[in-house]
Amino acid sequence: MSVPTGRPLRHCTHIRDLGVAGVNELLARAERLRAAPSRDHLSGRLLGMVFFNPSLRTRTSFEAVMKRGGGDATVLEVGNGVWKLEDRDGVTMDGDRAEHVREAVPVLARYCDALAVRAFSAGVSDLDDDLDRTINAFRRFSTVPVISMESAREHPCQGLADMLTARDRFGATKGLAVTLTWAPHIKPLPKAVPNSFLLSAAAAGCELRVAHPPGVELPASVRAEAEAYAREAGGSVSYGHDQNAALEGAQIVYAKAWGPSTESGLSPDEARELQMRLPAWMPTPAHLRRAARDAIFMHCLPVRRDVEVAAAVLDSVQSAVVDEAENRFHVQRALLDWVFN
Ligand code: CP
Repeated sequence: MSVPTGRPLRHCTHIRDLGVAGVNELLARAERLRAAPSRDHLSGRLLGMVFFNPSLRTRTSFEAVMKRGGGDATVLEVGNGVWKLEDRDGVTMDGDRAEHVREAVPVLARYCDALAVRAFSAGVSDLDDDLDRTINAFRRFSTVPVISMESAREHPCQGLADMLTARDRFGATKGLAVTLTWAPHIKPLPKAVPNSFLLSAAAAGCELRVAHPPGVELPASVRAEAEAYAREAGGSVSYGHDQNAALEGAQIVYAKAWGPSTESGLSPDEARELQMRLPAWMPTPAHLRRAARDAIFMHCLPVRRDVEVAAAVLDSVQSAVVDEAENRFHVQRALLDWVFN
C-alpha cells in the first residue's frame, strides 16, 4: 500500500517536467538500462494504468516494463467496468459520471505506487488542450507520481522513444536534420504526438523543419516552448507550407496527421474536408527520395496505410516505425526507474 510521504513527487506528464537536461539524461538512462537490464529494479512496485481512450503500444509496453522489471500493473478502462470519472470542479454530478477524481485519484494512489493516465484531447480548442484538465487533475489529487500515457497536449513517452530511435540510428541528435510533416487523414486527429515530437526534438538539439498546409498550425504555446528548448540545446525550429523544400536532405522524415488549429476558424465539417483534400501530402517513396540517402522514416503508429502514409514507405527498409514502438519499452523503463529509484 502506498501512503503519502510528504516528499516531492516525480511526475512526468509533460516534457517540461524533464527539461532539456532531463530529456537527454533520460535517453542516456534508457541506453544504459537496455545495455545492462536489471531484472528487479521495479520489484514490489504496482503501476495503476487509467485509460480514458484505447491503446495497443502504450498499454502493452508499460505492462511489459512493469512485469519484466519485477513489478506489476493494473489496468482500468474508464467507463468499461470502471465508473465514469468527473474531473470538472463544482458541477452537480447528475449525469453519467458517477465518481469524481477528487475521491478516485487519492484512492487509487493508496493502492498503487504510481499512476499512468491516458486522456486524449476533447477537441474543444488548442487553449483547452493547453489546460490539460484530466491529467492535471490527476497531478493535483494524487499522492504518488503521475505519468502521461498521452494527454490533450502531449505524449511525452512517444517523443522520448522517437529521440531514442534517432540516437540509435545516427549516434547523436544534436544538429540532426529532422522534418516533421503533416499528413492527410479521414478525420482531424489530436496534436499531442506532433507537439511531443516537436518538444523532444528541440530538447535533443535537432535542426527541425515543420511542414504543414495553412490552417493546421501547431499551438502557439507549444511552438514557444520548442523554440526555448532549441535555443538551450543549440538546435533550431522552422515552419513552412512547402513540404518538398522541408524534405530536402532530411535525415529523419516524421509524418503525422493532426487537426486544424482552432485559430483557423474552420468548422468541424471544413476541418474534416481539409484532412482529405490534400492527398499529395501523404508521404510516398517519391517524397523520401528528396531526403538524405541514409534517411529513415518515422511514425508513432497506429497508421492508416495509403491514407496517411503510402504502404510502400511503411514496407521500405527506411521505415523505423517498429523500432520506435520497441523504444517505447526502453524509455518507459528508464522513466519508471527515474520515478521510483
Ligand atoms: N503510439 C501510441 O501511443 O500507440 P497506442 O495508441 O497504440 O498506444
